[in-house]
Amino acid sequence: MNTKKLLITGGAGFIGSNFVHHVMESFNDVNVIVIDKLTYAGNLKNLSKWKEDPRFQFFKVDIADKESLFETCGGLDFTDIVHFAAESHVDRSILGPEEFVRTNVFGTFYLLELAKERFKKFIFNRFLHVSTDEVYGTLGEDGFFTETTSYAPNSPYSATKAGSDHLVRSYFHTYGLPTITTNCSNNYGPFHFPEKLIPLMILNCFQGKPLPVYGKGDNIRDWLYVKDHCSAIFTALEKGIPGETYVVGTRNEKTNLDIVNRICELMDEKHPEGAPHKNLIQYVKDRAGHDFRYAIDPSKIETELGWKPKYNFESALEETVDWFLTNQVWWKDILSGDYQNYYNQQYQELKQK
Ligand code: NAD
Ligand code: TYD
Repeated sequence: MNTKKLLITGGAGFIGSNFVHHVMESFNDVNVIVIDKLTYAGNLKNLSKWKEDPRFQFFKVDIADKESLFETCGGLDFTDIVHFAAESHVDRSILGPEEFVRTNVFGTFYLLELAKERFKKFIFNRFLHVSTDEVYGTLGEDGFFTETTSYAPNSPYSATKAGSDHLVRSYFHTYGLPTITTNCSNNYGPFHFPEKLIPLMILNCFQGKPLPVYGKGDNIRDWLYVKDHCSAIFTALEKGIPGETYVVGTRNEKTNLDIVNRICELMDEKHPEGAPHKNLIQYVKDRAGHDFRYAIDPSKIETELGWKPKYNFESALEETVDWFLTNQVWWKDILSGDYQNYYNQQYQELKQK
């Protein structure tokens, strides 16, 4: 096999850094260039393991700044782009959608332009766009999202991801750029930024802080361990058909309350101080436009590309709790930085009764 040279955007974030670990650990013949703006969610410590490795390079770049994107990446040697960089948190998109339009729509557009230029002149294999199942809107009690589900985004976040998906699609149809889009369900695992449900609940249990459950806690998410997601992305990159989309999930639907209760039980066992942690649950105002249920039918990626997940939910959730208990310096640094200011000043309003 020829050496794959991956340009990975957003590689200092949660899923991106897990993907860097996945490819660096699994394949000797893969080179990685990470570009990342290092927003509040980007953390170079997530990648410190690779900083001396000759197969790894990092550049601080804002993908929504076309000039600096082209200036930095124009001369780099890569054969594929794997695009994770995004503003990713629904609550933040409700508080301030503009940055989401800027990064998710304009950033993806400039990256497609970069890929198009590259594709004209050099070997260019794939532009893999990592997207979300939230572009499909919400499900009721029944049914599943598949690749043919109509787009119906409900939050500013999902609307900007939908916009980026459409741009990616158009570059395949119009310019023949070999694009692939994956739309996955909610991830969890190591390096998960502590504003999202699972890490927030683990860390609030640890600190004896309230566990804010939106509405009645009966909204349903379909949880995907980030390591399974990374193997799905690599499978799609290697075997996916240009122009196609693949939904990714592992059939793990849970209500938010199920998740919070299970985390409380695990924390009672592993961090008994403050047990029973369930007493910390607080029902707070529901999220505006809160999608009720997400659920994925991953048959296409399973049957057409032969992808199979490796992890089961129970043990992967426990592994995740253990990761946060073992890596306290990682999250304490985050909680004591700028994120905490933002969290205190604006974000707390969302967590009121
Ligand atoms: P994250 O917020 O943890 O990380 C995003 C990364 O992108 C950060 O490193 C950040 O610094 C970088 N970034 C943001 N704006 C940038 C810009 N303008 N230029 C360059 N870099 C920029 O996000 P995540 O959870 O790792 O999500 C990665 C991708 O997967 C996103 O595209 C997201 O929409 C998608 N996704 C995530 C989930 C999930 O459960 N986390 C589910 C479905 C899809
Ligand atoms: P989140 O992790 O923000 O992911 P997404 O909004 O992309 O699905 O939220 C997952 C679910 O948990 C969602 O239904 C909202 C809910 N939630 C809470 O109940 N409390 C919280 O503090 C957070 C962050 C989320």
